Amino acid sequence: MSNQMNESTHEFEGLESVDDRSVVGRRIIWLKETLSTNDDVRQEAEAEEPEGLVIVADLQNAGRGRMSRTWTSPPGMDILFSVLLRPGAADLPKMPLISGLAVARTLDAFTDTPITLKWPNDVRAADRKISGSLVESGSSDTGYYAVLGTGVNINQDASGHPEIAEIATSLRTLNGISVSRRDVMRKLLLEMDNIYSSPENMATLVVDWSARLETIGQEIDVRWGDEVIHGLAEGVDGTGRLLLRDDNGEVHRLEAGEVTTNV
Ligand code: BTN
Repeated sequence: MSNQMNESTHEFEGLESVDDRSVVGRRIIWLKETLSTNDDVRQEAEAEEPEGLVIVADLQNAGRGRMSRTWTSPPGMDILFSVLLRPGAADLPKMPLISGLAVARTLDAFTDTPITLKWPNDVRAADRKISGSLVESGSSDTGYYAVLGTGVNINQDASGHPEIAEIATSLRTLNGISVSRRDVMRKLLLEMDNIYSSPENMATLVVDWSARLETIGQEIDVRWGDEVIHGLAEGVDGTGRLLLRDDNGEVHRLEAGEVTTNV
C-alpha cells in the first residue's frame, strides 16, 4: 500500500471513533493516493486483518469498475473506499447488495432527488449514475472475505468529462452546492454497519434492496460478454440474482451483467 499518511488533517480523520458502529469502520486508513482501494483491502485481508477495515483514498490511479471498466474521479472530490467483511458462506452472495442499499439510504438524507437502484449495483438519481460498487471475494486462512469497493460521486462535475457527461451525476450537481464528504461518509458507514451487524437486517436485505430496484417490471437487455439476453425483469431471487423471462418464456437467473432499456 502506498502513501499512507500520518497527518491528522485529512477530511476523514477520527471517523472511526464517532457513532455507534460495531464492525464497519472499526479501523479507517486514509490514503492521499493509491492505485485501487479494493486491491489495498484485499492485501490486508490476505494478511488476516479483522473485518471492518475501511480504506478510503482521495485519488485512485487505477480505480476499477464492473465489467473490466475503469473508475475515475478527480482528486479529493468524491468518496472512494473499500470495506473488508468476513461473512459466513451463506451471506457471501448478498454482500454486493449492502453497498447499494446503504448508499441509497445515505443519499436520501442529502438530497431531495429520488434515489433508485439499477440491478445489480448502480445507484441512480435523475436518470444518471451517482454511485457504483465492485465487490470481490476470496478466502484466506481464516475463511471467506469480501471486499466491498464503492465510489460515490459527491462534488465532481461530470459535465466537463465527455465520456461520462451524459450518464453520471453527483450530489453537488443535484443540489447545486458542495457537500461535505465527511458527513456523507459518516452516514454511509453507519448505514452499512446497520445492515451488516444486524441479523434481522441481513435477513430482510434482499427484500429491502429489491424494493428500490427500478429494473423490476421493465423490458431490458442484459449483456454479459458477447451474449445479450432480452426479456422482462420479473424479480430477484433470495440472493439478488435477476429473474429474466425471455421471449420464449424461459426464466434466466442472472448473477451479473449490464442492463440496458430500450425506451
Ligand atoms: C461500477 O459501477 O462499475 C463499480 C465502481 C466501483 C468503484 C469503487 S471506487 C473504490 C473501489 N476501488 C476500486 O478500484 N473500485 C471501487
